[in-house]
Amino acid sequence: MKIYVMEDYQKLSAKAAQIVSSQVTLKNNTVLGLATGSTPEGMYQKLIEMYDAGSIDFSEVTTFNLDEYLGLDPDHPQSYHYYMHHKFFNYVNIPSQNIHIPPGQENNTAETCHNYEQKIVNAGGIDLQILGIGVNGHIGFNEPAKYLNTQTHVVNLSAETISANSRFFSKESEVPRQAITMGMGSIMQAQKVILLASGKSKAEAIKETVNGKITTEVPASFLQLHHEFILIADKEAAAYI
Ligand code: GLP
Repeated sequence: MKIYVMEDYQKLSAKAAQIVSSQVTLKNNTVLGLATGSTPEGMYQKLIEMYDAGSIDFSEVTTFNLDEYLGLDPDHPQSYHYYMHHKFFNYVNIPSQNIHIPPGQENNTAETCHNYEQKIVNAGGIDLQILGIGVNGHIGFNEPAKYLNTQTHVVNLSAETISANSRFFSKESEVPRQAITMGMGSIMQAQKVILLASGKSKAEAIKETVNGKITTEVPASFLQLHHEFILIADKEAAAYI
């Protein structure tokens, strides 16, 4: 595990963008695993700036997003499809056929989940996975539970996650109750994993992730077992480590 504690959110975002950019420069056809949420927004912004400055080329890159809410239209402003296009994809040159986001329709079947997983395998697996973290230690939408799923699956969101994510919706009742997410195995099989954490609301989860026991009650704690796990946290998120 490598830990970078950065002065502030801007520096955290710059560090993350620098690692993504180095990866893409070293391997033009990199397969990126991408995350949503407020934390990676700064990183996407920096990557767009690098692209505009001509210092990064995404033309051979393939992407797989971690998760999506069920029941939101792809053009609903809170869907992760909308987020990814409006905060990143619309501004860089990743070919549209190389972009993958789990489908958010309500009738997702085991086959839909399996197909997503199969596409990752067919692409050669994920080279670099970006993660954020929920206040309860979730990654993607792998919620604390007695058992965790290894592969892409449909999940019921926890009350904590619904409440934390309600800030993006006009009221809590509008937050979808279910999501589709890459599983723990899909994440752990990535060659390299970067976890971004910002703000004091994440400090407890980061303490448990880095120093706590490995437990399904803190899904991010499994990252301790990853051979190339990089944590980039700002001072507030790193306060207890
Ligand atoms: C959502 C996403 C996660 C993300 C988390 C934290 O629940 N499914 O992938 O890491 O939110 O979001 P934020 O960065 O906004 O705190």
